[in-house]
Amino acid sequence: MEMKKESIERVEKIERLKRDKNAIILAHNYQRAEVQDIAEFVGDSLELARKAMETTSDIIIFCGVDFMAETAAILNPDKKVIIPDAGAICPMAQQLFADDLLVAKREYPDAEVVLYVNTLAESKALADCICTSANAQEIVDAMDASTILFGPDHNLAYHAQKTTSKKIISVPEHGLCPSHHQIALEDLIKAKEAHPGAKIIVHPECIPEVQDHADYIASTSGMVRICKEVKDAEFLIGTEVGLLHRLEKEAPGKKFYPISTTAVCPQMKMHTLEKIEVALEKEKPEVVVKKEIMGPARKAIERMLEISQ
Ligand code: 13P
Ligand code: SF4
Repeated sequence: MEMKKESIERVEKIERLKRDKNAIILAHNYQRAEVQDIAEFVGDSLELARKAMETTSDIIIFCGVDFMAETAAILNPDKKVIIPDAGAICPMAQQLFADDLLVAKREYPDAEVVLYVNTLAESKALADCICTSANAQEIVDAMDASTILFGPDHNLAYHAQKTTSKKIISVPEHGLCPSHHQIALEDLIKAKEAHPGAKIIVHPECIPEVQDHADYIASTSGMVRICKEVKDAEFLIGTEVGLLHRLEKEAPGKKFYPISTTAVCPQMKMHTLEKIEVALEKEKPEVVVKKEIMGPARKAIERMLEISQ
Protein backbone atom coordinates (compact mmCIF):
# COMPACT_ATOMS: atom_id res chain seq x y z
CA MET A 1 0.00 0.00 0.00
CA GLU A 2 2.84 2.32 1.02
CA MET A 3 4.69 1.46 -2.25
CA LYS A 4 1.61 2.20 -4.31
CA LYS A 5 1.26 5.67 -2.78
CA GLU A 6 4.96 6.35 -3.43
CA SER A 7 4.62 5.37 -7.04
CA ILE A 8 1.47 7.49 -7.57
CA GLU A 9 3.37 10.45 -6.12
CA ARG A 10 6.31 9.74 -8.41
CA VAL A 11 4.08 9.64 -11.50
CA GLU A 12 2.48 12.95 -10.44
CA LYS A 13 5.91 14.51 -9.99
CA ILE A 14 7.04 13.27 -13.41
CA GLU A 15 3.90 14.75 -15.01
CA ARG A 16 4.56 18.08 -13.25
CA LEU A 17 8.21 18.16 -14.34
CA LYS A 18 7.22 17.39 -17.93
CA ARG A 19 4.79 20.32 -17.94
CA ASP A 20 7.20 22.76 -16.25
CA LYS A 21 10.11 21.90 -18.54
CA ASN A 22 8.17 21.39 -21.78
CA ALA A 23 9.48 17.82 -21.93
CA ILE A 24 8.13 14.75 -23.70
CA ILE A 25 8.72 11.06 -22.97
CA LEU A 26 9.25 8.78 -25.97
CA ALA A 27 9.33 5.06 -25.18
CA HIS A 28 10.11 1.96 -27.19
CA ASN A 29 7.62 -0.93 -27.32
CA TYR A 30 9.92 -3.06 -25.09
CA GLN A 31 9.92 -0.66 -22.15
CA ARG A 32 8.56 -1.68 -18.75
CA ALA A 33 4.75 -1.36 -18.58
CA GLU A 34 4.87 1.55 -16.11
CA VAL A 35 7.29 3.44 -18.37
CA GLN A 36 5.11 2.90 -21.45
CA ASP A 37 2.13 4.15 -19.46
CA ILE A 38 3.67 7.57 -18.67
CA ALA A 39 5.06 8.14 -22.19
CA GLU A 40 3.54 10.62 -24.66
CA PHE A 41 4.34 8.16 -27.41
CA VAL A 42 5.25 4.44 -27.54
CA GLY A 43 6.48 2.94 -30.80
CA ASP A 44 9.07 1.14 -32.91
CA SER A 45 12.42 2.59 -34.04
CA LEU A 46 11.03 4.18 -37.21
CA GLU A 47 8.06 5.79 -35.47
CA LEU A 48 10.26 7.07 -32.63
CA ALA A 49 12.65 8.69 -35.12
CA ARG A 50 9.68 10.40 -36.82
CA LYS A 51 8.17 11.53 -33.49
CA ALA A 52 11.51 12.92 -32.35
CA MET A 53 11.57 15.04 -35.52
CA GLU A 54 8.00 16.31 -35.11
CA THR A 55 8.01 17.29 -31.45
CA THR A 56 7.95 20.92 -30.34
CA SER A 57 9.14 20.03 -26.83
CA ASP A 58 12.49 21.37 -25.61
CA ILE A 59 13.51 18.15 -23.89
CA ILE A 60 13.08 14.56 -25.08
CA ILE A 61 13.33 11.91 -22.37
CA PHE A 62 14.18 8.89 -24.47
CA CYS A 63 13.29 5.52 -22.94
CA GLY A 64 14.96 3.11 -25.32
CA VAL A 65 18.51 2.01 -26.07
CA ASP A 66 21.52 4.15 -27.01
CA PHE A 67 21.22 4.04 -30.80
CA MET A 68 17.57 5.16 -30.68
CA ALA A 69 18.38 8.11 -28.41
CA GLU A 70 21.36 8.99 -30.64
CA THR A 71 19.09 8.96 -33.69
CA ALA A 72 16.72 11.37 -31.91
CA ALA A 73 19.70 13.62 -31.03
CA ILE A 74 21.03 13.53 -34.62
CA LEU A 75 17.60 14.57 -35.96
CA ASN A 76 17.22 17.27 -33.29
CA PRO A 77 20.49 19.14 -32.84
CA ASP A 78 18.67 22.01 -31.07
CA LYS A 79 16.92 19.85 -28.47
CA LYS A 80 18.12 18.21 -25.31
CA VAL A 81 17.84 14.42 -25.58
CA ILE A 82 18.13 12.67 -22.21
CA ILE A 83 18.44 8.91 -21.68
CA PRO A 84 17.44 8.01 -18.08
CA ASP A 85 20.03 5.21 -17.81
CA ALA A 86 23.12 5.68 -19.99
CA GLY A 87 23.90 1.98 -19.55
CA ALA A 88 21.05 1.06 -21.91
CA ILE A 89 23.44 0.02 -24.67
CA CYS A 90 22.18 -2.32 -27.41
CA PRO A 91 24.64 -5.23 -27.72
CA MET A 92 23.83 -5.69 -31.41
CA ALA A 93 24.86 -2.12 -32.23
CA GLN A 94 28.25 -2.87 -30.65
CA GLN A 95 28.89 -5.63 -33.20
CA LEU A 96 29.72 -3.32 -36.09
CA PHE A 97 32.54 -0.83 -35.75
CA ALA A 98 33.34 1.91 -38.26
CA ASP A 99 36.75 0.32 -38.97
CA ASP A 100 35.18 -3.01 -40.01
CA LEU A 101 32.88 -1.13 -42.33
CA LEU A 102 35.80 0.73 -43.92
CA VAL A 103 37.52 -2.60 -44.63
CA ALA A 104 34.33 -3.98 -46.26
CA LYS A 105 33.90 -0.79 -48.32
CA ARG A 106 37.44 -1.19 -49.65
CA GLU A 107 36.70 -4.79 -50.59
CA TYR A 108 33.43 -3.88 -52.38
CA PRO A 109 33.99 -0.36 -53.78
CA ASP A 110 30.85 -0.43 -55.95
CA ALA A 111 28.52 -1.53 -53.18
CA GLU A 112 26.18 0.79 -51.30
CA VAL A 113 25.99 0.57 -47.52
CA VAL A 114 22.62 0.07 -45.82
CA LEU A 115 22.86 -0.06 -42.05
CA TYR A 116 20.23 -1.16 -39.59
CA VAL A 117 19.35 1.73 -37.27
CA ASN A 118 20.73 -0.53 -34.50
CA THR A 119 24.27 0.80 -35.06
CA LEU A 120 26.67 3.25 -33.49
CA ALA A 121 26.50 6.84 -34.80
CA GLU A 122 30.10 6.49 -36.07
CA SER A 123 29.03 3.61 -38.31
CA LYS A 124 25.88 5.44 -39.47
CA ALA A 125 28.09 8.27 -40.67
CA LEU A 126 29.62 5.84 -43.21
CA ALA A 127 26.29 4.55 -44.52
CA ASP A 128 24.48 5.49 -47.72
CA CYS A 129 21.15 4.81 -46.07
CA ILE A 130 19.72 3.59 -42.76
CA CYS A 131 16.87 1.11 -42.39
CA THR A 132 14.73 -0.23 -39.57
CA SER A 133 12.94 -3.53 -39.13
CA ALA A 134 9.83 -1.85 -40.60
CA ASN A 135 11.40 -0.91 -43.94
CA ALA A 136 14.56 -3.03 -44.50
CA GLN A 137 13.12 -4.78 -47.58
CA GLU A 138 11.91 -1.50 -49.10
CA ILE A 139 15.18 0.36 -48.46
CA VAL A 140 17.49 -2.35 -49.80
CA ASP A 141 15.42 -2.65 -52.94
CA ALA A 142 15.38 1.12 -53.47
CA MET A 143 19.18 1.42 -53.56
CA ASP A 144 20.98 2.10 -56.85
CA ALA A 145 23.80 -0.43 -56.53
CA SER A 146 23.35 -4.14 -57.21
CA THR A 147 25.51 -5.11 -54.23
CA ILE A 148 24.59 -3.99 -50.73
CA LEU A 149 26.79 -4.09 -47.65
CA PHE A 150 24.32 -4.64 -44.83
CA GLY A 151 24.84 -4.80 -41.08
CA PRO A 152 24.94 -5.66 -38.31
CA ASP A 153 21.95 -8.07 -38.15
CA HIS A 154 22.41 -11.18 -40.26
CA ASN A 155 18.83 -12.31 -39.55
CA LEU A 156 17.41 -9.02 -40.83
CA ALA A 157 19.66 -9.40 -43.89
CA TYR A 158 17.99 -12.79 -44.51
CA HIS A 159 14.57 -11.10 -44.32
CA ALA A 160 15.64 -8.30 -46.72
CA GLN A 161 17.17 -10.76 -49.19
CA LYS A 162 13.79 -12.46 -49.69
CA THR A 163 12.30 -9.58 -51.68
CA THR A 164 15.25 -8.30 -53.69
CA SER A 165 17.47 -9.50 -56.51
CA LYS A 166 20.34 -7.42 -55.12
CA LYS A 167 23.25 -9.24 -53.55
CA ILE A 168 23.36 -8.59 -49.81
CA ILE A 169 26.66 -9.02 -48.01
CA SER A 170 26.48 -9.09 -44.21
CA VAL A 171 28.98 -7.04 -42.21
CA PRO A 172 29.89 -8.56 -39.80
CA GLU A 173 29.12 -12.02 -41.11
CA HIS A 174 26.99 -13.15 -38.16
CA GLY A 175 25.71 -10.08 -36.29
CA LEU A 176 22.68 -10.79 -34.10
CA CYS A 177 20.41 -9.67 -31.30
CA PRO A 178 20.94 -11.99 -28.30
CA SER A 179 17.31 -11.63 -27.14
CA HIS A 180 15.84 -12.61 -30.53
CA HIS A 181 18.47 -15.11 -31.58
CA GLN A 182 17.62 -17.35 -28.61
CA ILE A 183 14.00 -17.81 -29.78
CA ALA A 184 14.38 -21.36 -31.13
CA LEU A 185 12.33 -23.30 -33.67
CA GLU A 186 11.61 -25.87 -30.90
CA ASP A 187 10.06 -23.07 -28.80
CA LEU A 188 7.82 -22.15 -31.73
CA ILE A 189 6.79 -25.78 -32.38
CA LYS A 190 5.95 -26.31 -28.68
CA ALA A 191 3.95 -23.07 -28.53
CA LYS A 192 2.04 -24.02 -31.69
CA GLU A 193 1.22 -27.46 -30.21
CA ALA A 194 -0.17 -25.74 -27.11
CA HIS A 195 -2.16 -23.19 -29.17
CA PRO A 196 -2.82 -24.76 -32.58
CA GLY A 197 -5.28 -22.05 -33.67
CA ALA A 198 -2.92 -19.15 -32.98
CA LYS A 199 -1.31 -17.11 -35.77
CA ILE A 200 2.49 -16.88 -35.59
CA ILE A 201 3.95 -13.40 -35.81
CA VAL A 202 7.68 -12.76 -35.39
CA HIS A 203 10.28 -10.00 -35.60
CA PRO A 204 12.82 -10.13 -38.47
CA GLU A 205 15.65 -10.29 -35.88
CA CYS A 206 14.58 -13.91 -35.29
CA ILE A 207 16.60 -16.74 -36.87
CA PRO A 208 15.67 -17.81 -40.45
CA GLU A 209 14.02 -21.10 -39.33
CA VAL A 210 11.67 -19.16 -37.04
CA GLN A 211 10.96 -16.55 -39.74
CA ASP A 212 10.17 -19.34 -42.22
CA HIS A 213 7.48 -20.80 -39.94
CA ALA A 214 5.73 -17.48 -39.26
CA ASP A 215 2.44 -16.25 -40.68
CA TYR A 216 3.68 -12.65 -40.40
CA ILE A 217 7.08 -10.96 -40.01
CA ALA A 218 6.94 -7.36 -38.83
CA SER A 219 8.52 -4.60 -36.75
CA THR A 220 7.24 -4.27 -33.19
CA SER A 221 4.60 -1.66 -34.11
CA GLY A 222 3.83 -3.60 -37.29
CA MET A 223 3.03 -6.57 -35.05
CA VAL A 224 0.62 -4.45 -32.99
CA ARG A 225 -1.12 -3.22 -36.16
CA ILE A 226 -1.53 -6.73 -37.58
CA CYS A 227 -2.86 -8.18 -34.30
CA LYS A 228 -5.45 -5.38 -34.12
CA GLU A 229 -6.49 -5.58 -37.78
CA VAL A 230 -6.83 -9.29 -38.51
CA LYS A 231 -9.87 -11.25 -37.32
CA ASP A 232 -7.84 -13.93 -35.50
CA ALA A 233 -8.08 -13.95 -31.71
CA GLU A 234 -4.89 -15.80 -30.68
CA PHE A 235 -1.27 -15.01 -31.49
CA LEU A 236 2.15 -16.52 -30.80
CA ILE A 237 4.52 -13.59 -30.42
CA GLY A 238 8.18 -13.95 -31.41
CA THR A 239 9.89 -10.90 -29.99
CA GLU A 240 10.95 -9.29 -26.70
CA VAL A 241 8.23 -9.88 -24.12
CA GLY A 242 7.72 -6.15 -23.36
CA LEU A 243 5.57 -5.88 -26.49
CA LEU A 244 2.84 -7.91 -24.81
CA HIS A 245 1.86 -4.96 -22.60
CA ARG A 246 0.91 -2.86 -25.63
CA LEU A 247 -0.75 -5.78 -27.40
CA GLU A 248 -2.94 -6.58 -24.39
CA LYS A 249 -3.78 -2.92 -23.87
CA GLU A 250 -4.64 -2.16 -27.51
CA ALA A 251 -6.27 -5.46 -28.49
CA PRO A 252 -8.28 -6.40 -25.39
CA GLY A 253 -10.13 -9.68 -25.70
CA LYS A 254 -7.43 -11.21 -27.90
CA LYS A 255 -4.88 -13.68 -26.51
CA PHE A 256 -1.11 -13.29 -26.86
CA TYR A 257 1.46 -15.96 -26.00
CA PRO A 258 5.22 -15.30 -26.10
CA ILE A 259 7.05 -17.98 -28.10
CA SER A 260 9.86 -17.66 -25.57
CA THR A 261 9.32 -16.13 -22.13
CA THR A 262 13.09 -15.64 -21.80
CA ALA A 263 13.24 -13.25 -24.77
CA VAL A 264 14.02 -10.27 -22.58
CA CYS A 265 16.31 -7.37 -23.48
CA PRO A 266 17.96 -6.38 -20.18
CA GLN A 267 19.17 -3.06 -21.61
CA MET A 268 15.63 -2.03 -22.57
CA LYS A 269 14.49 -2.69 -19.00
CA MET A 270 17.07 -0.37 -17.41
CA HIS A 271 14.83 2.70 -17.43
CA THR A 272 12.60 2.96 -14.35
CA LEU A 273 10.21 5.61 -13.03
CA GLU A 274 12.82 6.54 -10.40
CA LYS A 275 15.50 7.10 -13.06
CA ILE A 276 13.08 9.07 -15.25
CA GLU A 277 12.26 11.37 -12.32
CA VAL A 278 15.98 12.02 -11.65
CA ALA A 279 16.69 12.50 -15.37
CA LEU A 280 13.92 15.08 -15.65
CA GLU A 281 15.06 16.91 -12.52
CA LYS A 282 18.76 17.04 -13.40
CA GLU A 283 18.32 17.10 -17.20
CA LYS A 284 20.96 14.43 -17.63
CA PRO A 285 22.51 12.16 -18.78
CA GLU A 286 22.34 14.02 -22.06
CA VAL A 287 22.95 12.20 -25.35
CA VAL A 288 25.74 13.95 -27.21
CA VAL A 289 26.84 12.97 -30.72
CA LYS A 290 30.19 14.18 -32.05
CA LYS A 291 29.81 17.20 -34.37
CA GLU A 292 31.76 15.65 -37.28
CA ILE A 293 29.49 12.58 -37.22
CA MET A 294 26.19 14.47 -37.02
CA GLY A 295 26.03 15.65 -40.65
CA PRO A 296 26.78 12.40 -42.51
CA ALA A 297 24.74 10.27 -40.07
CA ARG A 298 21.77 12.62 -40.47
CA LYS A 299 22.02 12.43 -44.25
CA ALA A 300 21.80 8.61 -44.14
CA ILE A 301 18.82 8.71 -41.75
CA GLU A 302 17.03 11.36 -43.83
CA ARG A 303 17.49 9.31 -46.99
CA MET A 304 15.63 6.49 -45.24
CA LEU A 305 12.83 8.83 -44.15
CA GLU A 306 12.48 10.10 -47.73
CA ILE A 307 12.29 6.59 -49.26
CA SER A 308 10.05 5.13 -46.57
CA GLN A 309 6.99 7.36 -46.32
P1 13P B 1 11.61 -2.24 -33.86
O1 13P B 1 12.09 -1.09 -34.65
O2 13P B 1 10.85 -3.26 -34.65
O3 13P B 1 10.83 -1.80 -32.67
O4 13P B 1 12.87 -3.05 -33.33
C1 13P B 1 13.85 -2.46 -32.54
C2 13P B 1 14.68 -3.44 -31.86
O5 13P B 1 15.67 -3.14 -31.26
C3 13P B 1 14.24 -4.82 -31.91
O6 13P B 1 15.06 -5.58 -31.12
FE1 SF4 C 1 19.32 -4.48 -29.23
FE2 SF4 C 1 18.10 -6.84 -29.32
FE3 SF4 C 1 17.71 -5.24 -27.25
FE4 SF4 C 1 16.67 -4.67 -29.68
S1 SF4 C 1 16.15 -6.38 -28.33
S2 SF4 C 1 17.70 -3.26 -28.30
S3 SF4 C 1 18.34 -5.41 -30.99
S4 SF4 C 1 19.64 -6.20 -27.86
